[in-house]
Amino acid sequence: MNLPKELIVENEQSMQLLGQQLAGYLQAGDLVLLNGSLGAGKTTMTRGIGRALGASGTIQSPTFVLARTHQTDKGPKLVHVDAYRLGSAIELDDLDIDFENSIVVMEWPRDFTHGLTDDWLEISITRDRESDARTVSIQGFGEWSRREVEIDLGN
Ligand SMILES: Nc1ncnc2c1ncn2[C@@H]1O[C@H](COP(=O)(O)OP(=O)(O)O)[C@@H](O)[C@H]1O
Ligand SMILES: [Mg+2]
Repeated sequence: MNLPKELIVENEQSMQLLGQQLAGYLQAGDLVLLNGSLGAGKTTMTRGIGRALGASGTIQSPTFVLARTHQTDKGPKLVHVDAYRLGSAIELDDLDIDFENSIVVMEWPRDFTHGLTDDWLEISITRDRESDARTVSIQGFGEWSRREVEIDLGN
């Protein structure tokens, strides 16, 4: 199915599975923006992406570091950015992220990545008030708007 798409993600395992399946479409130069409030599941999804890529180390909410680079078995490194403490696009630029040769997954991007690339994937996670389920909307821009993305969470 073409993007955009909306999925119901019932639990943490499914969120990781979604990340794992998305990872199959990612290559060097790709940028994934993750929106959603604290505890939405942004890091959980990143963990799934990391698992599928064979990322080194632990994927966790980078509390003191703004960006963590994980080497992977599959080639391009995975750069996990938590832009929560970043104040501007200039501060993001100061991190000197190697966008071209990495898969970059960024939590709390706001508008800091505007102009960085024409093609990116934007994911928004919202939390259901009564259950643990999350609604995940996946939108593609540029090249990504024409991509076919198959996700099967088994529900
Ligand atoms: N459907 C779900 N998807 C993702 N996480 C869930 C879900 N249901 C419960 N959780 C829990 O919510 C928390 C999400 O935390 P985290 O991924 O660190 O969020 P964020 O990075 O968006 O702040 C985890 O403790 C996880 O176990
Ligand atoms: Mg997080």
